[in-house]
Amino acid sequence: MDKGTQIDNSFIYLQDIRLSLRSEVEDVKILKGINFSANKGETISVVGPSGAGKTSLMMLLGGLEKPTSGTIRIAEEDLQSMNEDDLTLFRQQHIGIVFQNFHLIPTMTALENVAVPLEFMHDKQAFTKAKQVLEQVGLSHRFSHYPSQLSGGEQQRVALARAFVTEPHLLLADEPTGNLDVETGNTVIDLLFDLAKDKGTTLIMVTHDNALAKRCDRIVNIQDGIFV
Ligand SMILES: Nc1ncnc2c1ncn2[C@@H]1O[C@H](COP(=O)(O)OP(=O)(O)O)[C@@H](O)[C@H]1O
Ligand SMILES: [Mg+2]
Repeated sequence: MDKGTQIDNSFIYLQDIRLSLRSEVEDVKILKGINFSANKGETISVVGPSGAGKTSLMMLLGGLEKPTSGTIRIAEEDLQSMNEDDLTLFRQQHIGIVFQNFHLIPTMTALENVAVPLEFMHDKQAFTKAKQVLEQVGLSHRFSHYPSQLSGGEQQRVALARAFVTEPHLLLADEPTGNLDVETGNTVIDLLFDLAKDKGTTLIMVTHDNALAKRCDRIVNIQDGIFV
């Protein structure tokens, strides 16, 4: 069959994804032909050296950046055919994102931070649902704390709650424990796996931690912009 018209029913389907960024001197090739697919509910870790392109790949999967060429399909939707508004809506409906620096809004309480994605979707149950998820991550006693009044582990648990509150089909986690000590990191990761399993979420997680990578169904290794 012609590769360009091949049908693939995977939940996530990437075909020959390339990403180049223009620098002053020359184009920098960051991703050099990534082929990948994943099923619903699969947990996958992405490992590889610093600068290999892991974060860039996560940005593409989250629709936060567009590939230079190639096909990205998630939940039967073609990301290339979407404009910024479509992508924003798509993210709200399908994707949760957890990065290593939490990215909580400093002027909002834990509860408000978690309710934000639902408020964007005009969900009248936003605060009720936000409370439930904060309870699930063990933070029912921290609803009205601001991020600066929370420990690193607590902040990351708020970030997890925020990512899961919309019940995304896909959770993207980029070194989610990068800024945490080992013990706190393990607590956060246990929660991450529990929530993903509970909701049937597909999980793609970048990590430098081999033991953590092995907890996933599958490990992919990226080196210099290509899967090896
Ligand atoms: N905005 C940018 N402009 C130019 N080069 C970039 C930009 N962002 C990332 N890069 C380069 O792309 C490569 C991959 O980066 P990244 O995806 O962050 O790797 P990783 O997450 O695996 O450490 C690196 O060489 C990095 O320097
Ligand atoms: Mg990175």
